[in-house]
Amino acid sequence: MSSFTPRVFSGMQPTGNLHLGNYLGAMLNWIKLQETHECIYCVVDMHAITVWQDPKELRKAILDVTAAYLACGLDPSRSIIFNQSQVPEHAELAWIFNCVARMGWLNRMTQFKEKAGKDKEQASVGLYVYPNLMAADILAYKATHVPVGEDQKQHLELARDIAGKFNLDFADAIREAGHEGDFFPQPEPFIMGPATRVMSLRDGTKKMSKSDPSDLSRLNLTDDADTIARKIRKAKTDADSLPSESAGLKGRPEADNLTGIYAALAGSSVDQVLAQFGGGQFSKLKDALAELAVARLGPIGQETKRLQADPGHVEGILADGSRRARAIARPIMREVRKIAGFVVF
Ligand code: TRP
Repeated sequence: MSSFTPRVFSGMQPTGNLHLGNYLGAMLNWIKLQETHECIYCVVDMHAITVWQDPKELRKAILDVTAAYLACGLDPSRSIIFNQSQVPEHAELAWIFNCVARMGWLNRMTQFKEKAGKDKEQASVGLYVYPNLMAADILAYKATHVPVGEDQKQHLELARDIAGKFNLDFADAIREAGHEGDFFPQPEPFIMGPATRVMSLRDGTKKMSKSDPSDLSRLNLTDDADTIARKIRKAKTDADSLPSESAGLKGRPEADNLTGIYAALAGSSVDQVLAQFGGGQFSKLKDALAELAVARLGPIGQETKRLQADPGHVEGILADGSRRARAIARPIMREVRKIAGFVVF
């Protein structure tokens, strides 16, 4: 076993607004990891174009997501924040991985099946090999830890399989190039905290999603105070009062979701929330939740808007991050070329 320096890598697609689910499910963890780890956070624009993106909107979305990253508290003086397409090593390593990964592995990816739907013939080839690009994102930096949601676990397992097969297939070349042990680490998932899964405000069995046609289903990070309060007031509930203990949330997805969101925003536990609101009507929890959500999300929304009005500043941060990212990826990719048997000058 060889040891690798701990390094965190994660990414989000620049499509649509960030919402509460992204914030509680991902951003809070990304922010915390900055305190303990070297972190690289990527805006994965090359993943976005696996389905059609209008170029004008894509450009805006890349800057918007970056603005949201910064407004939430990702700190470019501590972490590397950059856009994927500015570091060509991602695409280059993805090609190598297209030749390492097996068709059979990709055929098992459930997200492709969901996204391609019935008409697989019309899906882009990029959508099919998307997980290989994701493996390249991570391994171009030899990242060891990847905070992801449940839905990305299968892709991360694929990245581990690719790393393993590369290490095995090229074991001799790796040794001859002077590397001791494995060349790539097996990246570990960090599956995240209590409110990892924030559900739709309209249907507690569906994930909060930027693609849900109803805007009432989610709290966007740029919603103003009135909108936040209105969406929470309209959130679906059931007819019973709130239970006093978390066991009573079983089979009550909306009650579960609202208390989970409250706990995550308050930094407390579901049991603490129920100790306070249990036995009472939903309306009391909703009033308190609206106030808490406005207090937590309001400043983030304002800061996002301020940064959106200053695209030059946001671009400067991406440019700097891309340079720093590339400084890590470039020498790793050079080794990969040598190991693969290419003639390197
Ligand atoms: N596929 C991830 C998603 O849709 C985004 C992503 C791309 C990613 N590359 C990554 C996440 C590398 C973690 C690490 O959410």
